[in-house]
Amino acid sequence: MAVRRVVIAAIMGQFGHPRGAAGRVAGWVMAHRRSNRQRNSWVVSLLEVQPTKKVLEIGFGPGLDVAELSRRAGEQGHVSGILSDLMLRQATRRNAAGIAAGRVTLARASVDRLPPALGGPFDASFAVNSLGLWPAPAGRLGELRRRLRAGGRIAIASQSRCPGATASTSRAAARKIEALLQGAGYTKTRIQTLDLDPPVVCVLAVNPGPDRGRSPPASGPTS
Ligand SMILES: C[S@@+](CC[C@H](N)C(=O)[O-])C[C@H]1O[C@@H](n2cnc3c(N)ncnc32)[C@H](O)[C@@H]1O
Repeated sequence: MAVRRVVIAAIMGQFGHPRGAAGRVAGWVMAHRRSNRQRNSWVVSLLEVQPTKKVLEIGFGPGLDVAELSRRAGEQGHVSGILSDLMLRQATRRNAAGIAAGRVTLARASVDRLPPALGGPFDASFAVNSLGLWPAPAGRLGELRRRLRAGGRIAIASQSRCPGATASTSRAAARKIEALLQGAGYTKTRIQTLDLDPPVVCVLAVNPGPDRGRSPPASGPTS
């Protein structure tokens, strides 16, 4: 039992921080697993990105949603908190045409060290199955809000990959994400659900504009 737990933890770890040969396999699985493809394509559709919009993705993995976005939007900025270069290489290969055309920018950075050259303000930002890996996500969401234009949208999606996860796991994740977004100053939060097993939840919210004296969001533990 203990061995099984260690093996499962090691496999799950590769999806959060892919590296080496096992990380390459994790990247391949993320890019080809049917539910992953459905999840990413669904989240991108919820953002309703129009041509010429600038979109920032945190934790782009093998770059599926970057490819989907570059079909929809004219100009984009993307950053990932990749802790190895592996996902950046896979996402770069998958988006070679968009990069060559200047429509896609991929960078190796952690969400708590967004490169100043990244630019902005963005019309939308999003993350899929990534927020749980961020250091102090409440503070990170506040920083991302300041990178969004007033009225810009954020989407944070989650689908638990833990064994035994159920619809109730997904609902709990959605409530937690919603509370984090509200604490970071976002408004108009709404929860969308994609009926997979377990369900994918995506919490959408809007940046109401400048802080106007708000106290900074507290840094909470990683979910
Ligand atoms: C489970 S994968 C999800 C990948 C992709 N979004 C998807 O749904 O297929 C988690 C991603 O979060 C990224 N990540 C891990 N730690 C991060 C951090 N501190 N900042 C930003 N991204 C991070 C990883 O590099 C990985 O690409």
